[in-house]
Amino acid sequence: MTERTLILVKPDGVKRGLTGEVLRRVEAKGYTLAAVELRQATPELLAEHYEEHVGKPFYDPLVEFMLSGPVLAVVAEGERVIEGFRTIAGTTDPTTATPGSIRGDLARQWDLPVIHNIVHGSDSPESAEREIGIWFPGL
Ligand code: CMP
Repeated sequence: MTERTLILVKPDGVKRGLTGEVLRRVEAKGYTLAAVELRQATPELLAEHYEEHVGKPFYDPLVEFMLSGPVLAVVAEGERVIEGFRTIAGTTDPTTATPGSIRGDLARQWDLPVIHNIVHGSDSPESAEREIGIWFPGL
């Protein structure tokens, strides 16, 4: 079934010049780009996007990190793209993310209060539609 997912290249990925590398991997896999925009997030937008993390110990460092520079917001489309992009991204912890994945190839653990792992990808059809509505209202 064709579905859509929200991908973010986080500020660490943008600063390291990895936006093209992320888009290349998404397109090389065969997914279609429906929207791409370089954006500066706001605390309000992040409170919506990360609503399930509000109150967790890493929430404030996470928001500070996500405000530290622009993010590339992307909507990608394709057959099972939600699960497919999460596989391309690799697991949250970059130390153990599988080599071949974005995080496994390009990220490592730093001594920081929040994990810097280059990309975000929606984790379910419900969160994908919710997150697309936050970043691209009306799309
Ligand atoms: P992501 O899964 O895209 O969205 C939540 C983010 O919070 C996650 O990526 C990491 O950047 C960060 N994160 C999640 N869990 C932890 C944790 N246990 N410690 C620090 N940061 C975390």
